[in-house]
Amino acid sequence: MINLKLAELRRRNRLTQQELGDILSVSYQTISKWENGQVSPDINMLPQISAYFGVSVDALLGIVPLEQEYIPSDSGTIEYWSKRLSYLKNTRRNMWNEDYFEFLINYVWKIEKPIEILDCGCGYGALGLLLLPMLPKGSRYTGIDFARSMIDEAKSIFAGTEFDVTFIEEDILNFHTDKRYDVVISQAVLRHVNDGFSYLKKMVEFTRSDGIVVSIECNREFESCGLHIDGMDYSDLCMHDGLKKLWTTELEKQNRDYSIAMKIPHYMKRLGLYDVDCRMNDKVNILERNDKGYQERLESIIGADHWTDEKTEREVEADIEYFMNHGMSRLEAEQYCNQQNGIVGFMKEHRDNISLTKTMGLMISYGWKTAVKNVLV
Ligand SMILES: C[S@@+](CC[C@H](N)C(=O)[O-])C[C@H]1O[C@@H](n2cnc3c(N)ncnc32)[C@H](O)[C@@H]1O
Repeated sequence: MINLKLAELRRRNRLTQQELGDILSVSYQTISKWENGQVSPDINMLPQISAYFGVSVDALLGIVPLEQEYIPSDSGTIEYWSKRLSYLKNTRRNMWNEDYFEFLINYVWKIEKPIEILDCGCGYGALGLLLLPMLPKGSRYTGIDFARSMIDEAKSIFAGTEFDVTFIEEDILNFHTDKRYDVVISQAVLRHVNDGFSYLKKMVEFTRSDGIVVSIECNREFESCGLHIDGMDYSDLCMHDGLKKLWTTELEKQNRDYSIAMKIPHYMKRLGLYDVDCRMNDKVNILERNDKGYQERLESIIGADHWTDEKTEREVEADIEYFMNHGMSRLEAEQYCNQQNGIVGFMKEHRDNISLTKTMGLMISYGWKTAVKNVLV
């Protein structure tokens, strides 16, 4: 498919259709038809147009990105997370089997006395809400997050509870404290930040000399393949082919690591932690139309991947441009967008009768700061 980038180039150069028409010796109506895809310019004109704008013919035709300079992913920024409170609230509902977390607390980490826990990148405090009822009475939870909307929501949620909590609005990488915590934990943060190792290093710094560091992250490969929807083919669902290029590019360009979950145990060892180990969250979501809370659970599960959003042609083209900027070919980017649209369409058509299985494959890495384990007993 040809996606002539003429309108974009014309606007960037602050030209009207009339002015560009004069430059290329065609009418403004012709420019308008080229721009809205009604007709395409004669192939012989392409070199002239691309030379005028100083781009390659491939870029003019949308085969390679117009933007030569890399546009960093913004998912490690305050601005990004400030707008994602409802997304976060929606997606936290299907992440854990509570009994599995109890198992970790009681049998793996053996936490038997009240602890001070620090949650780094706490969002609205979802981990606190999950953990505090399971921890020994008297345990205290501190959440840090750099997005004010998250901290405000956390404060208002916990205001109505009996729990002993503190929330701090701060960037973990700039945070300094003399206080040390028994357990320093984070969930779904390191995969979004640019330098996961430094973030983990800060977590280790905040941990008491006999405490535990816990990092919960998902590996994008597991996540993007852990899906079955009745009536759809596996090849329509498994999404990592083109994405691999995007992941590699983001790692190379901005040190943003989608497979960091697999590396964390090794980073923990490198940071001097003892008895480092890694487990996997055992939550598998199975949904059938007669299940209790079907609609709500479906919204939550498919909302996590934005399979509720139908995109306009312009939005799809913007996505393609972004994916190409992040290492995918036009074909891979188009295939990925088509695949996502296919899922969105299927969900819409069969909304009341979806049968699906979905698992994230969250990895839980942990290590002790002392060689003497089980000090929290
Ligand atoms: C995917 S959310 C996870 C939130 C929470 N851990 C949970 O699982 O519900 C990532 C969170 O990390 C926060 N975050 C990312 N980088 C941060 C940083 N450098 N310092 C503090 N918070 C950060 C974001 O604001 C966001 O709330």
